[in-house]
Amino acid sequence: MAHGTILLLNGPNLNMLGTREPEIYGSRTLADIERDIVALGKSGTPQLDVVPVQSNHEGVLVDTIQTVGREADGIIFNPGAFTHYSIAIRDAVASINTPVVEVHISNVHKREEFRHHSVIAPVAAGQIVGLGEDGYRLALEWFRSQLAKNA
Ligand code: DQA
Repeated sequence: MAHGTILLLNGPNLNMLGTREPEIYGSRTLADIERDIVALGKSGTPQLDVVPVQSNHEGVLVDTIQTVGREADGIIFNPGAFTHYSIAIRDAVASINTPVVEVHISNVHKREEFRHHSVIAPVAAGQIVGLGEDGYRLALEWFRSQLAKNA
């Protein structure tokens, strides 16, 4: 079975994982999480080549969705605070055919009101919220099972 390619995209402040509010986001760094997801991609059928990208900049996220994302078989995307208000990022997701799974480490619904709404969710394939960093792994396995079905 052919390999798949998955873009693992993280938005603003997720580069601060490990030291950023560890009671909410845990103590592992983004590099730790990316390493695990890249390794997990390799260890299963079909094999998934995971391309990790993080940016604090809205335009860079849009560019990455339009280029790497457009060519990928799936995007695992934690848009950080842009989730709640970036129409530009929503439009970028809507402009490509690649399915997107939106991931939030924390349960945004238990938190401040402004985190309850996602402008990305209506254009995403689905959402995984509040399961900590496991959300990234679960999203990867969902993409793997989708690709296996369509092979
Ligand atoms: C987050 C939730 C967002 O509200 C917040 O702005 C983040 C992280 C999460 O993973 O729980 O930066 O996306």
